[in-house]
Amino acid sequence: MVKICCIGAGYVGGPTMAVIALKCPSIEVVVVDISVPRITAWNSDTLPIYEPGLDEVVKQCRGKNLFFSTDVEKHVSEADIIFVSVNTPTKTRGLGAGKAADLTYWESAARMIADVSKSDKIVVEKSTVPVKTAEAIEKILTHNSKGIKYQILSNPEFLAEGTAIKDLFNPDRVLIGGRETPDGQKAVKALKDVYAHWVPEDRIICSNLWSAELSKLAANAFLAQRISSVNAMSALCEATGANVAEVSHAIGTDTRIGSKFLNSSVGFGGSCFQKDILNLVYICECNGLTEVANYWKQVIKVNDYQKNRFVNRIVSSMFNTVSRKKIAVLGFAFKKDTSDTRETPAIDVCKGLLGDNARLSIYDPLVTEDQIQRDLSMNKFDWDHPIHLQPMSPTSVKEVSIVWDVYEATKDAHGVCILTEWDEFKTLDFQRIYANMQKPAFVFDGRNVVDVEKLREIGFIVYSIGKPL
Ligand code: NAD
Ligand code: UGA
Repeated sequence: MVKICCIGAGYVGGPTMAVIALKCPSIEVVVVDISVPRITAWNSDTLPIYEPGLDEVVKQCRGKNLFFSTDVEKHVSEADIIFVSVNTPTKTRGLGAGKAADLTYWESAARMIADVSKSDKIVVEKSTVPVKTAEAIEKILTHNSKGIKYQILSNPEFLAEGTAIKDLFNPDRVLIGGRETPDGQKAVKALKDVYAHWVPEDRIICSNLWSAELSKLAANAFLAQRISSVNAMSALCEATGANVAEVSHAIGTDTRIGSKFLNSSVGFGGSCFQKDILNLVYICECNGLTEVANYWKQVIKVNDYQKNRFVNRIVSSMFNTVSRKKIAVLGFAFKKDTSDTRETPAIDVCKGLLGDNARLSIYDPLVTEDQIQRDLSMNKFDWDHPIHLQPMSPTSVKEVSIVWDVYEATKDAHGVCILTEWDEFKTLDFQRIYANMQKPAFVFDGRNVVDVEKLREIGFIVYSIGKPL
């Protein structure tokens, strides 16, 4: 029986390994992590992350050929294939701070693999890493005198949160990069055989190591660039009377452009787009490619501009001050169908409003009070370091209250701000919300989910990104 061990039981490691276990009953899969609460949760009825369909997959395999454990060294030493899916956050200090990827967690995993291995291993980069990381990892792994052979593969993950199980069941492609040597190609074949249990062969792309590593950064940069492009257009739409939804539809019907990923928003969030582009920018700068670096930097600048623009629009519409005014914030997760708040635009918008002395009443169907308070009191880039995965009691921001009901959040509010596109926001009783709000009652829709005309008929003053004012 082939044994797989995955280091890192997070948003990628957990769902990816659960699907491998489901699709490959002949393979034993163990997911290990240094975080005791995370592993305890994976072994309980309340999984540590919310993903539609994940519960069912885990329930079908857990205890059969899928295991979660904190005994990292034991399972690493027994495995044939080791996936490494640990955090690769942005460095917060030292050389490259604020841009370069912090490979501390990756390096410590690699050193541990080198220490405990007693047989040959295939080590798979699942985390998103800078191009050429495999070379560094190879040096760490082979720098032992035990005569063990390692093959490093790059197998970046392209799943999106909220649709992880769907994406893993039916991926557009699986990418495997390896050394172009006989041993390297043998390792590529071994990993290909795992995916071939359910992924059609023509969707498994093989490449050299550096192409695979760079393709992951390139894919995220291209996706984020599309959002910044449509968000840049949204500002122009507001200035000219065009409607960004109509513009997106019109350009998206061109098959060369395509219709996906053209939804204008308050800005993109999530744990990866910003960090991966910053990483790309740093790599370009290190290679002396200033113009290329500046091109990609602009994607993040436009994203920051979009979030600031939204806050400024709220404050300026509400007579240039939100001081002591109650603002209801609907949605805090970085997108619908996840409880993940990493780099959610809601953090910047809320901090911007708090900076102008607003009182916030926040509702999100999945995000906990602790998480919101922690996010609003944490410094930029600090969130993606494992210490924050441990429970801690954050200092509460006192102008913020978190409620579990939209109608309570909006009661007596001066304004409503929609920051996540949860489906339930499309069917709210806005007549009731209007009746219980202060007047004039404002709605600021950062996700284009409400029917602007209908709300204006009720009496709201409505601002919706990229729509005529
Ligand atoms: P995560 O924070 O959810 O999970 C990482 C886990 O690794 C944590 O539970 C942490 O405790 C554990 N860990 C860290 N160091 C460890 C060590 N030395 N030994 C054992 N466990 C260790 O992160 P994630 O969202 O799963 O992302 C992981 C990687 O995958 C990142 O590089 C990210 O860029 C990439 N990625 C993420 C997504 C996504 O949707 N979240 C998608 C594609 C790629
Ligand atoms: C993204 C990529 O889509 C995945 O392919 C990739 O594997 C992953 O990053 C990663 O490397 O972590 P994810 O961040 O989970 O996945 O979610 P997306 O659906 O890409 O959304 C990212 C952000 O962009 C969200 O805040 C979303 O609301 C926003 N978005 C997305 C828009 O504003 N407009 C759109 O049209 C699409």
